[in-house]
Amino acid sequence: MTTLIVLGAGGDLTSRLLLPGLADLLVSHHGESLDLRLVGADRDEHDQQWWVDRVREAARTAGAEGPQVEQLLGTTRYAATDVAADGDLARLLAECARDGDVVCYFALPPSVTAAACRALSPEDVPEGTQLVLEKPFGHDQESAAELNAVLTRLVPESDVHRVDHFLGKSTVLNILGLRFANRLFEPLWSATHVERVDVVFDEDLGLAGRAGYYDRAGALADMVQSHLLQLLALLAMDPPATISERDLRDRKAEVLRATRLWDVDDPASCSRRARWTAGRVGDLDLGDYADEPGVDPERGTETLAEVVLAVDTWRWAGVPFRLRSGKAMGRRRKEAVITFKHVPHLPTGLLGTPSPTRLRIGFGPDEITLELDLNGQDDAFGLERTSLTTQLSPGELTAYGQVLLGVLRGDSTLSVRGDTAEQCWRVVEPVVEAWREGRVPLETYPAGSGGPRGSGLLEDVDARECVEDAQAQAQREAATHEIGSTE
Ligand code: NDP
Ligand code: BG6
Repeated sequence: MTTLIVLGAGGDLTSRLLLPGLADLLVSHHGESLDLRLVGADRDEHDQQWWVDRVREAARTAGAEGPQVEQLLGTTRYAATDVAADGDLARLLAECARDGDVVCYFALPPSVTAAACRALSPEDVPEGTQLVLEKPFGHDQESAAELNAVLTRLVPESDVHRVDHFLGKSTVLNILGLRFANRLFEPLWSATHVERVDVVFDEDLGLAGRAGYYDRAGALADMVQSHLLQLLALLAMDPPATISERDLRDRKAEVLRATRLWDVDDPASCSRRARWTAGRVGDLDLGDYADEPGVDPERGTETLAEVVLAVDTWRWAGVPFRLRSGKAMGRRRKEAVITFKHVPHLPTGLLGTPSPTRLRIGFGPDEITLELDLNGQDDAFGLERTSLTTQLSPGELTAYGQVLLGVLRGDSTLSVRGDTAEQCWRVVEPVVEAWREGRVPLETYPAGSGGPRGSGLLEDVDARECVEDAQAQAQREAATHEIGSTE
């Protein structure tokens, strides 16, 4: 039997994502193979019913019911544990280890997690224990390295799971199938054929009550340094021999080691930061970010971050990777866009300005779109833009369900490896420094808009498309007119 200890049982992550993910996993086809007991732990005294009600409510939100969920509810228990108190966590670990394997999930504020790990000694951690840590992992390269050193003193790296739930999203994992199972794409997946790669994660969501965490993190640490760099790694890595812990993570690590700011000497030219001011997102009026409860305007926290990166490998030399994420945006836009280079020569007689072929991998809505130029629809020789779209099913498991499955099986394929966690901080550190020194202005954008004014670091793919479409149409009209007048 495996005991899953959730430290931070009363927290937001536990109730909103972790427990629903667990319930979802239990009712999936994987559920029956899991011999699991759940222990919730937090620093406050609560009675057993408080915890059972929380688990039940999470299962209800996930729409999960059945014997597996009932079994979980019937056997789960709550154990008041202050991880900052001497010996409390070690006692809980020892107690749970009597029943079999232990998975210890730190759903705690990151500083509390780090302190709890530091306070443990190797003898406190029963053999085979899996330690699961949430993002952010450290707050810079140095602190991430320190935390890694603490963890490797306790358990082998293979038993450490640094969670990035984007790696559990089925659409993100689909990048693997798309790239490596189709002869069509991989031969073109390089600087020879690709002009640029954009990874955009714009949310219409505001703070959602998380000011305490977010105002200290900001968009760069919250999204770019973690989730978006993981996406970059999957998009840019070389084909792994197997989708396994070693091969997949080696390939990702290789890419991240080669990733740097587009111009390391001039971070201001390749990074941008902004925060929202009063506006309207959908039906919701939002005030200035700076006036949100729990926000300290003096911190100058950004709610939108954009960076342009280079990947110094044979495959990607010279191709800009633009990563951007913003909150309180007018339009949800969550996608990776691969823009291919123009064809070397457009046969004379095909009318219009060709737009580049684009592949859009959507992370919500979950869909893949291939944008192409074709001809023959209206004017037989006029180029027209068309797109092939396929909707992707949401996958059997939620991202947290998928992550938990790996963790409970002791499989770290979808976990962020220690060296990679350090590299992700290294990549953004010149930006953090430039922003701290005020070398990049903190711009503003009204909530509900498309971000700060101006075209961004790289012209926006969508904006450019409109210009291209307009140009193409004008040219086609002119050409038709010319043909008409010679006739
Ligand atoms: P919360 O603050 O909501 O929850 C943390 C919980 O830990 C609280 O119940 C808190 O108790 C408890 N706690 C604090 N100190 C101790 C202690 N010494 N011993 C035992 N329990 C303690 O945080 P979140 O749930 O939002 O975040 C947890 C982790 O998950 C963070 O690393 C966060 O970055 C990460 N994460 C969160 C996401 C989210 O959407 N919430 C998304 C992705 C990652 P008390 O209330 O008494 O302080
Ligand atoms: C979390 C960030 O890790 O990811 C949030 O802390 C963000 O700020 C969220 O909203 C986005 O992930 P998802 O799965 O909710 O789209």
